Amino acid sequence: MSGRIPREFIDELLVRVDIVDLIDSHVPLKKTGNNFVARCPFHAEKTPSFSVNRKKQFFHCFGCGASGNAISFLMDFSHLDFIEAVEDLAGFVGVDIPRISSEYKPEQKNEDLNSLYLLMEQVTGFYVSQLRTSDAGKLAVEYLKNRGVSSACADDFMIGYAPDEWRVLATRFNPKALLDAGLLISKDGGQPYDRFRGRIMFPIRDKRSRIVGFGGRVLDDSLPKYLNSPETPLFHKGKEVYGLFELLEKNSKPSRILIVEGYMDVIALAQFGIHYAVAALGTAASQAHLDLLFRFSSELVFCFDGDKAGREAAWRAMEPAFSSLKDGRQIRVMLLPQNHDPDSLVREEGIDGFIGRVQSSETLSEFFFAHCSSALNLSEMEGRAQLIIKAKPYLEKLPESVFKEMMFSRLKELSGWDYLDVLENTATLATKQTSKQKYADNKNRAPNTGRLSSARMAIALLVQNPWLGEMLDQQEIVWDELDFPGVSLFKNVQNMIADKNPATTASLVECYRDSSEEKSIKALALLDSLIPDDGVEAEFFDAISRLVIQSRERSLSMLLNKEKNEGLTSQEKQLLLKILTVK
Ligand code: UTP
Ligand code: MN
Repeated sequence: MSGRIPREFIDELLVRVDIVDLIDSHVPLKKTGNNFVARCPFHAEKTPSFSVNRKKQFFHCFGCGASGNAISFLMDFSHLDFIEAVEDLAGFVGVDIPRISSEYKPEQKNEDLNSLYLLMEQVTGFYVSQLRTSDAGKLAVEYLKNRGVSSACADDFMIGYAPDEWRVLATRFNPKALLDAGLLISKDGGQPYDRFRGRIMFPIRDKRSRIVGFGGRVLDDSLPKYLNSPETPLFHKGKEVYGLFELLEKNSKPSRILIVEGYMDVIALAQFGIHYAVAALGTAASQAHLDLLFRFSSELVFCFDGDKAGREAAWRAMEPAFSSLKDGRQIRVMLLPQNHDPDSLVREEGIDGFIGRVQSSETLSEFFFAHCSSALNLSEMEGRAQLIIKAKPYLEKLPESVFKEMMFSRLKELSGWDYLDVLENTATLATKQTSKQKYADNKNRAPNTGRLSSARMAIALLVQNPWLGEMLDQQEIVWDELDFPGVSLFKNVQNMIADKNPATTASLVECYRDSSEEKSIKALALLDSLIPDDGVEAEFFDAISRLVIQSRERSLSMLLNKEKNEGLTSQEKQLLLKILTVK
């Protein structure tokens, strides 16, 4: 799999990213001493035992034993495979992934994509200039003004205007590329024509600022009110949200993100200073949407119209919501007053009123249980049974977490059904036991903070400070003489460093992914040598000298013994002589 992405690129990514920033954007970290700590995202705990080390570019949980570099973190945290994690990391760092394989994403294809992105950019520029300078654009400007959209806000969102003509784009840009980008419609072999005509244009940007699609609104009451780009190689509706790039530009780690329904809601809120709203492009928020948003904030607030359709939409959002709720993540549900959307409400109530509503919106658990029991009579057994039948399948979707246990215990309270205990315990007992087991195992292997053997010290320091490898090469060490437990691993690491030149421990560990040495290397990476930074080099070479002396002493006594008992070969005599003269 990894062959598709050049190895050097992965190394470079690991050098460019700072694991502290990366993890902090998912799990807020606190600095203590040399490390950054948090409550572990991989198991439930009350006090933080999850620690991230900037120098090593490595994380480790003393509680459950999870550890690894930035790629491993993304794989575990966001449930990604290796390639996806590398893609995510590249996105986080803001670089493109070069591909070397021809079967998966051929280079040709990559170029095609890049030219489509460029086209989208040019078309956006064209639409903006039409809005700002053409006569027809004046009508659109008028419309936006009437809806209270400021010029600055229109700029921020790159709002444009598509003239009401059939072949405006078709005559200005490459028709094949326009078709691929979903900007032309081609029917029954007839001449292709522009998809968006006579509409205010809202470019949809991905989190890396690339324009992937458009939404277009008519200026009057005609239908359809909005048109959106179709699925294209650039645009996947289920994965993108409107306004994310603009949000991240203002604040890359907002404390919450609002999920609203429409383009104009995002824009109106931004204009009122609420720069943390996105819209799910006219579809219900999917699991992919939620996972994407949870990368940037730990609290999501769903905003829905207060009418029946709104409440039903809120309920439909519960399924992906439940699956995405790991510990540390929070979802609220905000139902708006009848006949309002966020756009109209913020204009009527102002920013303070709106934020007040956000702050007092229902938590997911409140909304969930209120909705589940709304039509039920809980004073009757039948009603309580219905409640269990309705609620349980959702609660089972929750990832193992303290929250899940609390939700079950609330259901037990509301239904008064003790049998639930039994069910719940059989479900969670297994996982509890394994994490306890893990903990015990881990404790037995707890980092040895006493004096390490010279061998362990030498290998651990080399793994933790790959730059020592180069210095080692400059020393005149007779490797054949060196013999100690772990020497083959030591040489393996030394060769790996010479070969790959990893900048940090994280990069070195990456070279061992899926190899038989991976486990040992990770353990060495985590070993606490208790050596201050400025003492590393001296301690390392001390350990090496001790190993050299120990090896010589061992050989010496072995040779002397053999000489006494059975005599030495000429080769062994030479070796003995050499050892004696060096001493
Ligand atoms: P609404 O109909 O609630 O519109 O659609 P709105 O956002 O309040 O729009 P304004 O205020 O009248 O301009 C909500 C969202 O649903 C999608 C769009 O993404 C829209 O922003 N939608 C709506 C469509 O895709 N097509 C439509 O015809 C209507
Ligand atoms: Mn509206």
